[in-house]
Amino acid sequence: MKQSIIKIHRNLDIKNNFSDIKITKKLFIRTFGCQMNEYDSEKIIDILNQKYNLFEVKSPDEADIIIFNTCSIREKAQEKVFSDLGRIKPLKQKNPELILCVGGCVASQEGNFILERAPFVDIIFGPQTIHRIYDLIQKKLQENLPQIDISFPEIEKFDSLPIPHRNKSSAFVSIMEGCNKYCSYCIVPYTRGIEIYRPLKDIIFEIKKLSDIGVKDITLLGQNVNAYKTNIDNKIIDFASLLEYVHEINGIERIRFMTSHPKEMTNKMLDVYKNLYKLVSFLHLPVQSGSDKILSSMKRGYTVAEFRYVIDQLRKARPSLALSTDFIVGFPGESEEDFENTIQLAQEIKFSSAFSFIYSARPGTPASTFPDNVTYHEKQSRLFKLQEVINIHSQEFAKSLIGTKQRVLAENVSTRDEKQIFGRTEYNKIVNFTAPKSIIGTMVDVIITNVNTNTLNARLI
Ligand code: 5AD
Ligand code: SF4
Repeated sequence: MKQSIIKIHRNLDIKNNFSDIKITKKLFIRTFGCQMNEYDSEKIIDILNQKYNLFEVKSPDEADIIIFNTCSIREKAQEKVFSDLGRIKPLKQKNPELILCVGGCVASQEGNFILERAPFVDIIFGPQTIHRIYDLIQKKLQENLPQIDISFPEIEKFDSLPIPHRNKSSAFVSIMEGCNKYCSYCIVPYTRGIEIYRPLKDIIFEIKKLSDIGVKDITLLGQNVNAYKTNIDNKIIDFASLLEYVHEINGIERIRFMTSHPKEMTNKMLDVYKNLYKLVSFLHLPVQSGSDKILSSMKRGYTVAEFRYVIDQLRKARPSLALSTDFIVGFPGESEEDFENTIQLAQEIKFSSAFSFIYSARPGTPASTFPDNVTYHEKQSRLFKLQEVINIHSQEFAKSLIGTKQRVLAENVSTRDEKQIFGRTEYNKIVNFTAPKSIIGTMVDVIITNVNTNTLNARLI
């Protein structure tokens, strides 16, 4: 009798072991575009990791599953996806078992049309359906037909994501999806949908979990984070209040957010810059143009004077604040004078870093129908002039750090030199310094010794 019970137990064990065995899959994932896509790619890996014995590979020709998580913010980014798909085509012809997936904003924008240009694609999914990726793969295997799901199933995405497990000292946490601003040039409200805010308790739960596994540096993510709002017991929780809640979480030492809008920099936001010491002294606040005429045509909802006022107030609230921004040059109707106003604003604010882009007409956006009489050559020359100004200020900013003490989150061993550790300052600058590996994952103080083009060198104190 005893024997048979053991046997049954054994059988059960064996059965469980079989059901636990996961199929091994090698994944190649390429992420285009913004941090929202980086966040989504990390979540895609987490989802597939639950289902498969998953290995990430560095080259598409080693993979069983290839995922392109795409960006459509500018035409160039979108075309890059199609040229990369063209390069993958021979792999698919050689190995019909290979699963090829296109996700993100190009998938959302183009849907079925992707199959017209690249009929060998197996799965097309949008930014709001990343959590269905495994089911889509299964369906493709059963039906042997391409699967498309680019729907917007509200907040379902966040409810279905696994709890993060990766042992990193910094992490992104998405707090909202989409954008309601409808700037006249921008495709995001169409590809990522209208604003949907995650409930406060879910955000706090995720950050606490991340803190438990050693994460110290959190970036709250969304296309428009300072528009965040939710309701608890009939009380409105806005973005400033959310920051206060996150500030309370033990173990979290640094709070960042990305991206915010100048129009939503409320007095309460100024207060959090005064009061919350974990909030980094670094803010990315896209201005786009220094001309009122262009800002109005872009539907940005503020004037240059209002932007200046916001910056003045922020600098009063947090004198050490470093600012970065985005500019678009060559917007339809941008005259030489409008562009000069942009240069003037850049010279006046002295951003510590800035991204600048040539305007790219996006299908379906209002600006794509605006008459545009500036030549591409002229646009390139304006971009070049603006970048020269931006580079001077970012170099000046980096040089001003030489000799200063900076608190750095030690992230990992440098890829260039085994004896060096790289970390990140609160200004998001990468710093290399000699230190033992044991400090990885902790905050340390360093003295900045010199400046390279994109990184800093330092000495551990
Ligand atoms: N053309 C050029 N740049 C764009 N951006 C957004 N849409 C466009 C476009 N159609 C830029 C803006 C934004 C950044 C993420 O991308 O500067 O802040
Ligand atoms: Fe696009 Fe404007 Fe929304 Fe930013 S605020 S995502 S530029 S529509």
